[in-house]
Amino acid sequence: STEKKALYIIFGATGDLASRKLYPALYRLYTKGYLKDHFAVIGTARREWSDEYYQNVVKDAIESIKESDQDAEEFSSHFRYQSHNVKDSEHYHTLKELADSLDSEYAIDGNRIFYLSMSPTFFGTITTHLRDQELVTQNGFNRVIIEKPFGTDLESSKELNDEINDSFDEDQLYRIDHYLGKEMVQDILALRFSNRIIQESWNPETLSSIQITLTEDLGVEERGEYYDKSGALRDMVQNHVLQIVSLLTMDEPDSFSTDNVRKEKLALLESLKQPDVKEEFVRGQYQASKDGACKAYRDEEKVDPESMTETFVAGKIVIDSDKWRNVPIYIRTGKRMKEKTSRIDVLWKKTEKQLFDESDSLLTIHISPEEGFEIQLNDKAIGPGMHMHPVTLSSMRSEETIKESPEAYEKLLLDVLDGDETHFAHWGEVAASWKFVDHIRNAWNEDTESIPFYPAHSMGPQESDDLLLKDGQKWIYNP
Ligand code: BG6
Repeated sequence: STEKKALYIIFGATGDLASRKLYPALYRLYTKGYLKDHFAVIGTARREWSDEYYQNVVKDAIESIKESDQDAEEFSSHFRYQSHNVKDSEHYHTLKELADSLDSEYAIDGNRIFYLSMSPTFFGTITTHLRDQELVTQNGFNRVIIEKPFGTDLESSKELNDEINDSFDEDQLYRIDHYLGKEMVQDILALRFSNRIIQESWNPETLSSIQITLTEDLGVEERGEYYDKSGALRDMVQNHVLQIVSLLTMDEPDSFSTDNVRKEKLALLESLKQPDVKEEFVRGQYQASKDGACKAYRDEEKVDPESMTETFVAGKIVIDSDKWRNVPIYIRTGKRMKEKTSRIDVLWKKTEKQLFDESDSLLTIHISPEEGFEIQLNDKAIGPGMHMHPVTLSSMRSEETIKESPEAYEKLLLDVLDGDETHFAHWGEVAASWKFVDHIRNAWNEDTESIPFYPAHSMGPQESDDLLLKDGQKWIYNP
């Protein structure tokens, strides 16, 4: 049977992420039969909520996807709420009693998933208490899901990791990077390693560059407080962007096992060259839109009016290995840009002899909102002479297919139930990524004089285009 047994304890159950992502994802697992009779959820947070109130919150969260009122009712009846102060050991006793009673009520056999979806300041405190107050069971599995940010730099993430490791082993930890749950991000390794035609041409000798673009049209919304301390570098580059870089450039693993994939990703991330920040990285901050409809970043709620925080980053990443040294990886990400788009463009050099008037060959992987990939090749234009024109072979998923595909959180939560850690960020990768990012952050912290601005709904500051121009390149995606 596909049915799994698990008791979830969600720290931060009243939060936005829980409602937007977790409850819908759990509900999808429920409608597909992975969660059925033998699961329960304890939501905890400081606020005083009744079970009934909590169940209504859960029902609201699945309102637009529920199959029927009755179904939503049955699903939400598995949810209980326990108000909780994470620093108070007494509260963990109460939590344990509730957990044990739900465990027997739903015959869960001791499987526990602790979901830490709150400020990382408390991760260590919580995991220590979980161990000391014996919420960890002996008869089932005990897994911890950790939301980002995992620290704010290498040092703080190390401390955090050590604290958590006092109570849980690395193989019990599931650090979420939701990009790793996206279909088209998972497709990177599939495309690279299941097609000889792509594998052979994925050759640093013949590639000219790789471009990664993760842009958003929204601003910081209600997250000014967090974001102003974080910035785009920590918010997007340290995790999503570098994970994608590693998938695009890692060596072929010996097998598709968690350990082998992890090993190659780690080797890659540890071989990133420390960038020359002045030359190779650009930051930017958004200004108000011309029509006044969007505020400037500095005027957003809970943002310092003189903030130097970057809402945009572009950079050139170089891999310090004989193989990859000559293939620049250009990355950019930002808020309040022209469109919401996540995509990867892989460019090949022209042929050595260039017998014909060829264009660059190009592979585009569309991560979202479109999903699929396209390959642009040269084809002879019909008629006299030998003139080339670019044609595109395309495999794009229909809107309907996309709608029916499982969402990132749903897939990742199922992986946790299955004990599959392949699509999660492991400690070594996190550490190597922080090391890379800290170096850039430090350089920027020294330069507090100015930050380039870009107009809302643009593709970033001029400096971002200049970065590629210096290398005789340009951004392929330029809406
Ligand atoms: C999150 C960032 O990790 O990713 C957000 O904290 C960002 O700032 C989000 O908006 C983007 O994810 P997606 O899936 O919408 O591209």
